[in-house]
Amino acid sequence: MKLNKSQLKKIDELGYVIIPSCFSNEEIKNLRDAMTLAFNEKNEANLVEKSSGVVRTAMGLHLRSKIFDDLTRHPNFFEPACQIRGHNLYIQQTKINVKAAFTGEVWQWHYDFATHYGEDGSPKPMALNLHVFLDDVTEFNGPLFFIPKSHKYGSAPSKLDTVTTNYPLWVVDQQNVKALVKENGIISARGNAGTVVIFVDNLVHGSAHNMSPFDRAIFSAILNPCDNAQTKFARPEYKHGRDFKPINPSSYKSLLM
Ligand code: SIN
Ligand code: MN
Repeated sequence: MKLNKSQLKKIDELGYVIIPSCFSNEEIKNLRDAMTLAFNEKNEANLVEKSSGVVRTAMGLHLRSKIFDDLTRHPNFFEPACQIRGHNLYIQQTKINVKAAFTGEVWQWHYDFATHYGEDGSPKPMALNLHVFLDDVTEFNGPLFFIPKSHKYGSAPSKLDTVTTNYPLWVVDQQNVKALVKENGIISARGNAGTVVIFVDNLVHGSAHNMSPFDRAIFSAILNPCDNAQTKFARPEYKHGRDFKPINPSSYKSLLM
């Protein structure tokens, strides 16, 4: 799948693009089946919510499950990433953030490069975050909020928050969020299962508590140019992959087996 001119312009100008209907129902079903297996594993890469103890994020999925490894090479996923950042991309991180019905907790306002720079020593904000919706994502079940154009301001000041949730995160303070929103507003990234969302490393985003009766599972892969690899190795491999070889799309296998 190739992004058209207007989609490429959106990435550049707004910092994100939302593309509906990129995966078939059968592909999504197979991914969801693999998700259930991953969530049921006893694995240190399954991190749980602070209050309920249900899975918040299941990480390192390309290392744990063949179908998620294949997904990173799927033409509807990998080709748009190559159009934006070139072909030499390695898998920095894969995960599913489920935000379970009734209990899924917030992701505070942040941008990913604060962590990629602060924790991993990745030199530049060149990584891309690519999502595939595994559930319908609506206004009710905790969609991501983006501040359009916030990546244009460079890296906003961030502070490490180890208290609000079980997932330590470099967060942007309320004054900065207020100023950015005043200029550019907020949008929510919604769509049916099978939607792809792509956003850049400096885009400020977050998501609210899911008080609806609907789960909101989203697969995410962070792909990083090989010449922008991490220089610090404090985080485990399930948070930042150690294989810096470029993804090889010719070894893609169908998700339909
Ligand atoms: C993230 O920012 O990586 C996660 C946000 C979410 O799953 O809502
Ligand atoms: Mn993020």
